Amino acid sequence: MLEVMNIHTYYDLSHILFDVSLRVSKGEIVSLLGRNGAGKSTTMKSIMGLTPPRQGSIRFKDEDITGQKPYLNARRGIGYVPDDRRIFADLTVGENLEISARKPQRGTGWDKEGVYELFPPLRHIDNRRAGFLSGGEQQMLTIGRALMTNPDLLLLDEPTEGLAPLMVKMLEEQIARLRDKGLTVLLAEQNQQVALRLSQRAYVIDNGTIRYHGTIEELKANAEVRKKYLLV
Ligand SMILES: Nc1ncnc2c1ncn2[C@@H]1O[C@H](COP(=O)(O)OP(=O)(O)O)[C@@H](O)[C@H]1O
Ligand SMILES: [Mg+2]
Repeated sequence: MLEVMNIHTYYDLSHILFDVSLRVSKGEIVSLLGRNGAGKSTTMKSIMGLTPPRQGSIRFKDEDITGQKPYLNARRGIGYVPDDRRIFADLTVGENLEISARKPQRGTGWDKEGVYELFPPLRHIDNRRAGFLSGGEQQMLTIGRALMTNPDLLLLDEPTEGLAPLMVKMLEEQIARLRDKGLTVLLAEQNQQVALRLSQRAYVIDNGTIRYHGTIEELKANAEVRKKYLLV
């Protein structure tokens, strides 16, 4: 579904990603793990086209999308949930969802009702302005909005960051439900517990370089990598 090959990404003169490669197959949840500042968000933005790589290439559904504009990537089927939970503060919860709706390419897909079924708390605040939501509600809304575009691949950038433990647990269950529905997800996380529970494979990034990749079982058994590159 997604293949990132040897990309190098810069912010102006700062070289941030070095030869990053990763792949995500259809139906997988793959984690991209690393400490704060490791390069997780930059990898997500490189895929989405917000910070196009200067070298290397990115393929999505067997097409080269390197340097493609974000809105075209969205149209092609990449859903992106940024780490800063950008929502339209002046619109209601329901309007935030409706404005993102994009018809599925085939079959039935996500609509507002489906999102409310996945995130019941949102149904009760359908009419509330999004600027007045709690952190957890905002995160549900940003994920819901990405789902409304009926993506084939969802890029989730640290969805659990800053949320209370109960909310993290609930979100984790909902992401697991998305996986069971067959959605493909690339999940950036600092919280390795969440990633270890949800995904089948993981990449570990540090200083803009992929230091490790393997199955979750292999990573669980590899105390050295976890100690060296991840928070305990
Ligand atoms: N807009 C930016 N301009 C310059 N440097 C940035 C910018 N965003 C992030 N960086 C730097 O890029 C590196 C990787 O950041 P980021 O991809 O956000 O890491 P992570 O998401 O893993 O915390 C960090 O050193 C960070 O300071
Ligand atoms: Mg980040």
